[in-house]
Amino acid sequence: MGRFIAPSLLAANFADLQHAVELVNESEAGFLHLDIMDGQFVPNISFGMPVMQAVKKISKKPLDVHLMIVKPEQYFEKFKQSGADWLTVHMEECKHLHRALQEIKELGMKAGVALNPHTPVSTLEEIITFADLILIMSVNPGFGGQKFIETSYEKIRKTKNLILSSGSNALIEVDGGVDLKNAGPLFEAGADILVAGTTVFNSPDAYNTIHELKNAGS
Ligand code: DX5
Ligand code: ZN
Repeated sequence: MGRFIAPSLLAANFADLQHAVELVNESEAGFLHLDIMDGQFVPNISFGMPVMQAVKKISKKPLDVHLMIVKPEQYFEKFKQSGADWLTVHMEECKHLHRALQEIKELGMKAGVALNPHTPVSTLEEIITFADLILIMSVNPGFGGQKFIETSYEKIRKTKNLILSSGSNALIEVDGGVDLKNAGPLFEAGADILVAGTTVFNSPDAYNTIHELKNAGS
């Protein structure tokens, strides 16, 4: 399917976000990934709507917004107003996941479901045809720069099989510890979108790193 890179702004220099967004604008990135953390669902706090709104004004890429917050459904409309194009909620935090996805789509956004490393792919069975995106967390959410969990490959393959057998159109996104070595194998395993924070923004040439990630192993 696709081969998209979604640089995560979490690893950018927050004192110069404009530079980071403009770099992504000019690059081959397919999305700009924004990690929203509330210090409750995950043990870290990132940034919220005012930052998103400022980024939206200058971003030429669709905003791929990953909600790591409790009760995300309280804020769907505000995230839409703040510029989200894709909105992803965590399976572990949504008691009424079907309703949540419907609400996101009714607001005009694409709807994603994220799975923590411990959450089995089988939990997607009844929801897969309602989702536009499945986000496989390949680290425990909350921080950038963590080590990739190798069992994620098997989860990607299982998710791909579920998508094919159910007739779902969902894309598979992988988030956490993506680098130039595992990018090729991850696409091969069935990933459509790779999120990359540290690998992109800590590299001496972020623009070229995005190109290399996109073309890794091909
Ligand atoms: C972690 C976030 C990731 C993070 C990835 O909770 O969801 O998007 O920015 O960072 P890296 O690519 O550095 O692992
Ligand atoms: Zn993320």
